[in-house]
Amino acid sequence: MKRKVSKAVFPVAGLGTRFLPATKSIPKEIMTLVDRPLIQYAIDEARAAGIREFIFVTSRGKSALEDYFDHAPELENVLRKAGKDHLLEALKATNMESGAIAYIRQHRPMGLGHAVWCAKRLVGNEAFAVILPDDVIAAEKPCLAQMVEAYAETGGNIVAAMEVAPSQASSYGILDIAEENGPLVRAKGMVEKPAAGTAPSNVAVIGRYILTPRIMQNLSRIKPGAGGEIQLTDAIAAEIARGGNVFGYRFRGQRFDCGSKAGFLKATVAFGLAREDLGAEFWDYLAEMFAMRRAAQ
Ligand code: UTP
Repeated sequence: MKRKVSKAVFPVAGLGTRFLPATKSIPKEIMTLVDRPLIQYAIDEARAAGIREFIFVTSRGKSALEDYFDHAPELENVLRKAGKDHLLEALKATNMESGAIAYIRQHRPMGLGHAVWCAKRLVGNEAFAVILPDDVIAAEKPCLAQMVEAYAETGGNIVAAMEVAPSQASSYGILDIAEENGPLVRAKGMVEKPAAGTAPSNVAVIGRYILTPRIMQNLSRIKPGAGGEIQLTDAIAAEIARGGNVFGYRFRGQRFDCGSKAGFLKATVAFGLAREDLGAEFWDYLAEMFAMRRAAQ
């Protein structure tokens, strides 16, 4: 039997404090990279990986997210009458089939692990993906599709992994590596935000996961960890301790940390330059700006 993943959980209940004051009234996931909100990139990546059911873990103040995936009949009528087919086409990607999308509330921001646990009943007894929309990944083959392929071969739990500078390790979940096999690394441990100098490797976990239902059981049991939050990393580490398989997958692509201001700006430049309709004009502007800076030095 070929192993499949058809459900994805999108934890979007965080406070997004690094983007205050904007995130006082705008969910972080609605902030736009060029002309699409972060959540659209995440949904497109999930669809490309064969995901059919989309589960959002939301919180107060996130209604803009729910509206984003709704039909907009007035807007669509205006565009149709004006013959703006390309804009109608752009809107299509935002529509979800009835029944394909579910929202569940996390009533208090108790951490990523707790947010994932909130989706327990909707996920049921099958493997599921988790996508953090603030990690945006530019890749020829979308990252989750790469991971679903790897999962079909290996089963178990797979987390997206990448090397980080040793000085950065304390900002991530870090894998303790048992063995490497091409892009897959088998983990013998995993630690969230290790104190400086104590990281077991420089292979960090970023916001894409394929997880087994046992991770939900582990989440039911674990206590708050780093930062006083229920950590997904701790539930995955518990799975390793129970003898479960956990692999890091070194994806092919470039990851942008759009949860941070600098990362968001970098992504904006990279995605802007990559756009056929904007790249040339944007490049000219950047070149002009660099020339002016150099002249001023
Ligand atoms: P972050 O660590 O980026 O936290 O969460 P945050 O609240 O979004 O942003 P800052 O740090 O205050 O600026 C990583 C992911 O986990 C989700 C977030 O929505 C984000 O997708 N999350 C985090 C939850 O859904 N619930 C939580 O309690 C915490």
